[in-house]
Amino acid sequence: MIGLPEAGEDRGAWHPSGRAARERLSGAESGGRERAVSDGPEQTLSGRLPEALRGRLALPVICAPMFIVSGPELVIAQCLSGVVGSFPALNARPAALLDEWLTRITRTLAEARAADPSRKVAPFAVNQIVHASNDRLAQDVEACVRHRVPIIITSLRAPDAVIRPVHAYGGVVFHDVTTVRHAEKALEAGVDGLILVCAGAGGHAGTLSPFALVGEIRRFYGGPLILSGAITSGAAILAAQAMGADLAYMGTRFIATREANAAPAYKDMIAGSAAADILYTPYFTGVPGNYLTPSIRAAGLDPEALPVRDKAAMNFGSGGVKAWRDVWGAGQGVGTIADAPATADLVAHLAREYAAARGRMAGLSAEYAGEAVP
Ligand SMILES: Cc1cc2nc3c(=O)[nH]c(=O)nc-3n(C[C@H](O)[C@H](O)[C@H](O)COP(=O)(O)O)c2cc1C
Repeated sequence: MIGLPEAGEDRGAWHPSGRAARERLSGAESGGRERAVSDGPEQTLSGRLPEALRGRLALPVICAPMFIVSGPELVIAQCLSGVVGSFPALNARPAALLDEWLTRITRTLAEARAADPSRKVAPFAVNQIVHASNDRLAQDVEACVRHRVPIIITSLRAPDAVIRPVHAYGGVVFHDVTTVRHAEKALEAGVDGLILVCAGAGGHAGTLSPFALVGEIRRFYGGPLILSGAITSGAAILAAQAMGADLAYMGTRFIATREANAAPAYKDMIAGSAAADILYTPYFTGVPGNYLTPSIRAAGLDPEALPVRDKAAMNFGSGGVKAWRDVWGAGQGVGTIADAPATADLVAHLAREYAAARGRMAGLSAEYAGEAVP
């Protein structure tokens, strides 16, 4: 996600216990979520997903939106491979380009579906940064409404102003959060699912372990959960589901693909780095995020001695992209990435890993259920 706490919020503040949150959500303002809560994580995964996603994915994956990196080539390749592709609206610069991108993506995916109705062509998503410094928000939301973008991913603020117009045409809103408190606020605003940005995620990231955050949120929310943070393999996608998430949210792994809008040196740096090369710092945008230390050094800075900065430095307007262009974001999953294949080949590889991991798990569960292991 591109940003975390809302201005003036204390991320370490007390938040209601799971029980209090559950009681609140089962009240009249829950908008029907009490049914989802009582269904709980045991409900079938596909049954929990919004209609737009059901039966349309080859793998339970949403490819995360990434500033500069995600453009129409990557999004189209992702969706045609059967995983949700996404991009931040702000990547289309100037703003008028967004219309062109939306037309191109929508048309290409529709043509692919028409050519082979049995093919799993995933829907796409557009990321909107809901922050005062995003001077394009109203215009970008209007373009998404006009093009009936199937999924909107909101970052930063609980997205009341976005939800109403998107729901009006049948679109779905997923909101990314790093804490229980932000999850509660987003649910109260009426989002259709939560993206949990946990420790080790690329770009702006949370600090909580996915085991902790998924567990706490599943105590009061039975709707769609999407998990992120250093997920780079088919086994990790399955692990996210085992933990209680419905879908994995993968960013860094897709920077190192042929279609990503990233310099070859960036892709090489990802393929050549390990988790120890990732620095978590608020220095570049005012919000803590994960960055590649070799890129910080290449920009002439000492990663060990960056001065302290705060949220006042945040800016998501039309200027100030230098941090992302010159200092490269990546998550702790870099250590398991060694190549930059075509997106279709990567997704096929992830699908094989996912199937193999499922096979291993079936053996394991039989062992611990006291059954004979073949
Ligand atoms: C280079 C880079 C740019 C990112 N830009 C955005 C962005 O514009 N909006 C957003 O919501 N998240 C952004 N993210 C965060 C991702 O959407 C996602 O949360 C993260 O990549 C998931 O963790 P992973 O990289 O370990 O897979 C960015 C991440 C990276 C690595």
